[in-house]
Amino acid sequence: MKVVKTISEVRNIINQWKTSGLSIGFVPTMGYLHEGHGSLITQAKENDKVIVSIFLNPIQFAPNEDLSSYPKDLKKDCALCESLGADLLFCPSPSEMYAKDFPTYVDMSGLTENLCGNSRPTHFRGVCTVVTKLFNIVKPDVAYFGQKDAQQLAIIKQMVTDLNMDVQIIGCPIVREDDGLAKSSRNSYLSKEERQSALVLYHALLLARNLIKHGETNLSHIISKMKDYIAADPLTSIDYVDAVNALTMQNTHTIDSNTLFAIAVYIGKTRLIDNLLISEMEELS
Ligand code: PAJ
Repeated sequence: MKVVKTISEVRNIINQWKTSGLSIGFVPTMGYLHEGHGSLITQAKENDKVIVSIFLNPIQFAPNEDLSSYPKDLKKDCALCESLGADLLFCPSPSEMYAKDFPTYVDMSGLTENLCGNSRPTHFRGVCTVVTKLFNIVKPDVAYFGQKDAQQLAIIKQMVTDLNMDVQIIGCPIVREDDGLAKSSRNSYLSKEERQSALVLYHALLLARNLIKHGETNLSHIISKMKDYIAADPLTSIDYVDAVNALTMQNTHTIDSNTLFAIAVYIGKTRLIDNLLISEMEELS
């Protein structure tokens, strides 16, 4: 596996692969990789070549967020990518990606405004901008994103359609710890007690599933029971607990296969997200 830091090195390698007619699968990440990222890399192996990027994108973090404390372990990340058969790891510096006073952004209305967009108003502009730049550098045939970040996945699909980007977007299922906590680089922030409390996200989703299974059809009742359950743990503070349409990310009162329960909760100072798509609720244990 090659590890490169400059855009020109990536372009040279990709041009050679393209000339040879090889298909390219791409997995963009911010590093501190775990099995969730690993599942995306494994799925990307359906292409001839797999590129993983590790770039802690400063413009998707607000000044009060955790950019400076975000966990890093490039050596371990390289070992995981290598063991899963990635062909190229692209880990540019911030100055390689952004010129000083960089003035160009990719922005979107609608899908970006609810859920995480409420509490992180510039976040998705940062995500859309960096993903566009990475697509322009890597020129992938297929790119892989996790359903863990359901809103991000919907936004990227919309962006690719709206801007006629020649890349197929594949969404991959949420990978969880044995006890149900969704894997996340940010789980490393949690103390032992917080790690236990973090299970409220998953358990609140299970609660919603069980209520629906037992015939509850009123989404407001379900959401308020989920909120009560989460709020009963003293280490939690709710950002949002919502039921939305997975395609529009707008709040919904209808239960159908596109209904998505989406949760963001602070466990101490750590903000965690999780979600459950109704059509996939049988897959939860
Ligand atoms: P990051 O949080 O590192 O996540 C990279 C990819 O891994 C995303 O597509 C995310 O949804 C997926 N992922 C994370 N945890 C997962 C889990 N438990 N199961 C399945 N997939 C999981 O998301 C970002 O980085 C950034 O916003 C990025 C798209 C790279 C742009 O900077």
